Amino acid sequence: MSDHNSCKKVYITTPIYYVNDIAHIGHAYTTIIADMLARYSRLVGYDTFFLTGTDEHGQKISTSAAQRGKTPKEYADEISGKFKTLWDDFDISYDKFIRTTDEEHKTGVQKAFQKMFDKGDIYKGNYEGNYCVGCETFFTDAQLIDEEGCPDCGRPTTVVKEESYFFRLSNYEDKLLELYKNNPEFILPRAKAKEIVNFVAGGLNDLSISRTSFDWGVKLPSSMDDDKHVMYVWLDALMNYITALGYGTDEANMDFWPAKVHLVGKDILRFHAIFWPAFLMSLELPLPDHIAAHGWWTRDGEKMSKSKGNVVNPKEVADAYGLDAFRYFMLREVPFGQDGDFSQRALIDRINSDLGNDLGNLLNRISGMSGKYSDFKIVSKDVIKYHQKELDEVHAILQNVEQLIFNMQIHKYLEELWKVLTIANKAIGDYEPWNMMKDGREEQAMALVALVTNIMAKVSVLLESVMPHKISQIAKSLGITIDNETYINIIVNKGLIGDTVITKIDALFPRIEEPLLVTADVQKVEEKVQKPRQEAEKQVEITEEDNLITIDKFFETSLKIGTIVEAVEVPKSKKLLKLQVDLGEGKNKQILAGIKEFYSADELVGTQACVVANLKPAKLMGMMSEGMLLAAKDENGLHLIRPEKPKIIGTKIS
Ligand code: MSP
Repeated sequence: MSDHNSCKKVYITTPIYYVNDIAHIGHAYTTIIADMLARYSRLVGYDTFFLTGTDEHGQKISTSAAQRGKTPKEYADEISGKFKTLWDDFDISYDKFIRTTDEEHKTGVQKAFQKMFDKGDIYKGNYEGNYCVGCETFFTDAQLIDEEGCPDCGRPTTVVKEESYFFRLSNYEDKLLELYKNNPEFILPRAKAKEIVNFVAGGLNDLSISRTSFDWGVKLPSSMDDDKHVMYVWLDALMNYITALGYGTDEANMDFWPAKVHLVGKDILRFHAIFWPAFLMSLELPLPDHIAAHGWWTRDGEKMSKSKGNVVNPKEVADAYGLDAFRYFMLREVPFGQDGDFSQRALIDRINSDLGNDLGNLLNRISGMSGKYSDFKIVSKDVIKYHQKELDEVHAILQNVEQLIFNMQIHKYLEELWKVLTIANKAIGDYEPWNMMKDGREEQAMALVALVTNIMAKVSVLLESVMPHKISQIAKSLGITIDNETYINIIVNKGLIGDTVITKIDALFPRIEEPLLVTADVQKVEEKVQKPRQEAEKQVEITEEDNLITIDKFFETSLKIGTIVEAVEVPKSKKLLKLQVDLGEGKNKQILAGIKEFYSADELVGTQACVVANLKPAKLMGMMSEGMLLAAKDENGLHLIRPEKPKIIGTKIS
């Protein structure tokens, strides 16, 4: 491995998840983003440490355990194990999975408490106020909704009156405001900083950091000789970011501190952007570079909740649609920081369009062309001679994408990579290598295929962190290895891949027509996934003869000539045009056709096409489509099948 970037240490964390519930897509989202960052960071040569884990103390967990007749530790073991299994199934590349019940963690937290106490930042007093057990948060009277409700989750708070230790948060008001002012990227996205600055500028109360009414938590340091207190769960939890590196015990990994980025959901930004830097200042430790807060996922437009039964189980989705497709969807669909909606339709559209058509199909074209022209051999030697222009375009985009990653503009990063794929797909259409082969310009045809292969290789390197498994298949097919050395060669140094031989592989992202998840019931999901696979396998076995149909069968399809009388683009769709087609039936048929990349709406109006007129209507992007246009697609692009001479509208095709 090259030593490019290798001295730089990068520490990335997810929140540690409460063990009172099983993982849903919100948890998976944070973890997938962090995993992508960690994989990317390793690829570019940074010495990387990626932490995740579980948050196991506090009143909420102890109550949940009691409701199930378990001790808190038994319950925590069970749920923490489930999180770990899920991340292992998802091949999450964490370096450490911390549990707040780990002895080293507890020792580290006690050391931190002691240090803050010795510094004079902790004092003993009495707390009287409102507590939300669900959010494990204290609120002042003024913050409550209707004098009782938690301002974050709406559930009733309880009045807590107990002896408590306090952290002098109020002493850190000015220092925090200075921090936000001097480091405008401390909170990402930057737009989120405003609410934090306003909150702090509005005045900070000292923070109650111990509880006496239950005992499921980290005890105070023994030197304090105050056994009835356990630490406030958020103090305990936040400290995980340093105890995981050995703070207070074996400090060998503390050179990873400070964190490059703590990834969090917007609901827990306040804890990370106010309490955490204040604790760190008190401990005289450097502060993390970024606290990056993502938005919330809803399901089909609604908040996910158990009572509505609409919680999306990430494992079910990944099992049905494929882990890498799920990862891509989560990272691409929603701009970081904004709320996003999970719908199977949106996921299917991404798979069919971005992954199937743009990425998977490009690989097919590479193997198709190279197979036909050069027995699968790719030689890059003439790429610069014929395609400097395209290479320059590619490199101009690629040299700006890296900065998008740690600024958390991951959706943009992917958008840019897709622009690069478009350069490749467009080059094939523009240069028409099949014609070059026909008229003796073989060298040029080879150079074109090599250009496209090189573009695919470059994009694959940069997509590896997003879809590690699918990209490793692409790499195998291209005969390249994706590692730091390749990254340096073809991304940093803008080089080309060496001579290689393409291996044909199965379609990476087979087209999906219907949602695969009918209910949250895993068994049904499996049935649904199995069926199309079995059908596909069956189809392979059918011989050509078995495949013959009778003429009656053919005429079950009603094919007619129609005139396209209106065509408009479907907003937000890269592929679809909405057409009104006159088939002489009195009422026009509305047809959503995936041809936007090949035809403009204007050029279609007034032209004729062959239409499947008795297709069962289906909804696409929320709109009805009542038919289908016949078209043929090959390396040369997509073309509609049309009558040779104009025909009377509605003429039957036979
Ligand atoms: N234990 C605390 C974190 C302590 S970190 C020192 C906690 N745990 S949690 O399990 O409730 O939430 C973990 C993460 O999941 C949070 O970042 C939260 O924002 C995220 N999500 C929970 N529901 C979510 C969605 N519906 N959508 C996106 N993320 C959401 O908070």
